[in-house]
Amino acid sequence: MSHPLPRLGVNIDHIATLRQLRGTPYPDLLQAARLVEQGGGQQITVHLREDRRHIQDADVKWLRANLQVALNLEMGATEEMTSIARKIRPAWACLVPEKRQEVTTEGGLDLKKGKKRIGSVVERLQKAGIRVSLFVEPTVEAMRLSAELGADAVELHTGRYCLATQGGANRKGGPAKLLTGVAQGTLPAKARTELKRIRAAAEACRELGLHCHAGHGFDYDNVRPVAALRDAVGVELIEEYNIGHAIVCRAALVGLERAVREMVSVIVAP
Ligand code: PXP
Repeated sequence: MSHPLPRLGVNIDHIATLRQLRGTPYPDLLQAARLVEQGGGQQITVHLREDRRHIQDADVKWLRANLQVALNLEMGATEEMTSIARKIRPAWACLVPEKRQEVTTEGGLDLKKGKKRIGSVVERLQKAGIRVSLFVEPTVEAMRLSAELGADAVELHTGRYCLATQGGANRKGGPAKLLTGVAQGTLPAKARTELKRIRAAAEACRELGLHCHAGHGFDYDNVRPVAALRDAVGVELIEEYNIGHAIVCRAALVGLERAVREMVSVIVAP
């Protein structure tokens, strides 16, 4: 029996980061979204942070009105964000923990501590026709709590696994080369342990009838062993990936030659 292939949602927060760095009108987020669509991305993901450090309210509205593909809004489980989401009505909302000082989302939601608040936000978003995923650590308990809270999906936080594959930012021997093809057998022991946690959580997710998404920290190498996870009949355990930083970084490199060529032609023939 055929089944849908895993989907890629592309997080374009860091396209907005480049714009916010200078306060320029470019790069245009909608143009970026169109390129994502052309590349086969099936969803645009944005995180409207409390401090608005990259994505702005107007971006979310504009994307919602103009995208051809689904919009996935990452948001803290706050009153302010719930009210914005209910007005804009993205296809999906992904509830994430948010701390002001963090560089990026660190750790998954604490569903035990935040049960009442998160449960109420899930309900109010769903009443507005928005499907809800919860960004959680890959543990069987978090899957069970997510199901209890009535979520449509979980997004497994893959940060620990990814860090274990990359060996941290300042490893000896310089940065790893992309596209070297991490085979499961060559993963560091810690990454293998994390991969097992991801598998167990994804299997629990399937049993509980939750959709299973994954994201955070993926690069072109370390996503492979996760994408290779299958159930007993060969179906992928993860249905959707939300990936941002590595794609924007790669875009900066693969697009640099053309960008320079275009500027050279402008200055020699204005
Ligand atoms: N999913 C969630 C819930 C996130 O918070 C992030 C980071 O914004 C991502 C996916 C994408 O992570 P990365 O930029 O490391 O690919």
